[in-house]
Amino acid sequence: MNVIESIGTIANNMKKEQTTLEEAIKQRLRVNVSDVDMVDGVDRLIYNHCKNKSDVRELIGGSKPTFNKKINEVIDSGLISEPIYQNRSHLFTHEQVMILLDHFGFEKYADNHDSKVVLVTNHKGGTGKTSTTLALATATATDLNFNAKVLVLDLDPQGSAGQGVLQVAEDSIYVTMTDLLLAEFEPDNEDNLVNALLNNGYSFEDIVSLCPFSTHLSNLSVITAFPNDERFVDMYWQLDEAERTRLLCKFKEIVLPILKNHFDVIYVDLPPQDSPITWSALEGADMILVPVTPRYYDYASTTNFMGNLHERLGNLPSQGRNIEWLKMVAVNYNENSKPEYQTVQKLLRSVRNHLFTQTISHSDAFTAAAELGRTVLDIKKSEEICTAHQFDLAVDSVRLFYKQFKNELVAIAAK
Ligand SMILES: Nc1ncnc2c1ncn2[C@@H]1O[C@H](COP(=O)(O)OP(=O)(O)OP(=O)(O)O)[C@@H](O)[C@H]1O
Ligand SMILES: [Mg+2]
Repeated sequence: MNVIESIGTIANNMKKEQTTLEEAIKQRLRVNVSDVDMVDGVDRLIYNHCKNKSDVRELIGGSKPTFNKKINEVIDSGLISEPIYQNRSHLFTHEQVMILLDHFGFEKYADNHDSKVVLVTNHKGGTGKTSTTLALATATATDLNFNAKVLVLDLDPQGSAGQGVLQVAEDSIYVTMTDLLLAEFEPDNEDNLVNALLNNGYSFEDIVSLCPFSTHLSNLSVITAFPNDERFVDMYWQLDEAERTRLLCKFKEIVLPILKNHFDVIYVDLPPQDSPITWSALEGADMILVPVTPRYYDYASTTNFMGNLHERLGNLPSQGRNIEWLKMVAVNYNENSKPEYQTVQKLLRSVRNHLFTQTISHSDAFTAAAELGRTVLDIKKSEEICTAHQFDLAVDSVRLFYKQFKNELVAIAAK
C-alpha cells in the first residue's frame, strides 16, 4: 500500500472510531452538575451561588415579618421548596431566588432594555476571548438586579466555551448553530438532524428554541459548537455569490430574532480566525468586545486585526451598520510587569475611549477554576483552590470590569 492509500485507510478507520455528535457533545460538556463536591448534600456549584435570607429580603424588600409571611406562602404553595438550613441560616438557591423575583413581579431586564448580541472576538489566539465571555456571562446572570436571561453562543469549532467551563444539563437535542444555518444547503447530510426534525413537523423556531443547554444558573444557557462545524466554511466556498450572501445573513435574519425572543444578552465566543463563521456573526452583532493581552506580539496582531475588521465589516451585506458599539479590554494583565504596563499605556494612547479603563488581571484563579469546570465567579475563597490574593485579583477585576461593561450595555440597550 502506498502512502496515499494508507492515508485514505487511516481516515476511514478513524472515522469509524469517531463518536456521534450526541456522544461527543456529552463528552465535551460536563453533563449534569457533579456529585463529587457536595456541601451538606448540596452540589458545590449550586451552593456557591446561594443567597441567605437577609440578602433575599434586601432584594425583595419588606419588613422582616412581612417578608417571612410572603416567603412561607410561596413555600406552602409549592412554588419553591424549603430553603437549605445551614449554620443557623436559610440559604436560597439561585434558581429559587429567580423564581421569587418572578413571583413578586420584580423588574426584568426586558422591561426596559432590548436584547443585544455581544461578539467577543480577536483573530489572535489565546487572548482571553473564552475566559472573558464566560466571566461576563456569569456576572450578568448572577446580577439579580439586572434580572436578565443570558445565552453563551459558542461558535468556535475548536474551542471552547461549552467545553468544561460551564456545567450543562442533559436536556436538549443535539443540534449546533452550524446544523441550523446549513440545513437548507445540505439536505442530504444525515448527520444534520435539522432536516429530519423539520420533516417530522417541528418548525424552525421549535428547533432553535430546543438548542440551548441549561446550566447550573437557571437564567444562563449555552449553545455549543462542535469540531464538525468547520464544514460551514467549506459549504460557504462551494456556494455561488448570491447563496453566500444568503448563508451569511441567515444567522442575523432567521436565527437571531428567535434567540432574541428567548434571551436578553447573547454573548458570542468566536474562534481566532477570519472566516465565514466570524463574518456571519459580525453581520448579526450589535456590540463588539475585543479582549487583548498586553504583550508585545498581541498588540501587533490586534493592530492587524482592527485593520482587517474595518475592511471586513465594510464588505459585509450590512456594511457594518449594525454595529452600535466596539470596545477593547486588556485581559490577563500583570500590573507589576513593566512591559505590560507600557503596552497598556500604548493601548490607551491609540485606542483612547474605546479601551475600558478597568482591566482583567492575570491570576492563577482563572486556570484553577477552569480545571474544575468553572469560572472565577463560581468559586468561593474558602475553597482555597488558589491563594486569597489570587482569588481577589481575579474576582475583583472581573466584577469591576462587569460594572463598566454593564453601564455601556444599558446605554446601548435602553428602550
Ligand atoms: N486573566 C487571566 N489570568 C490567567 N490566565 C488566563 C487569564 N485569562 C485567560 N487565561 C488563560 O489563558 C489561556 C487562553 O485563554 P482563553 O481560552 O480565554 O483565550 P481565547 O482567546 O479564547 O483562546 P482561543 O483563541 O484559543 O479561543 C487559557 O489557558 C486561560 O486559562
Ligand atoms: Mg476561545
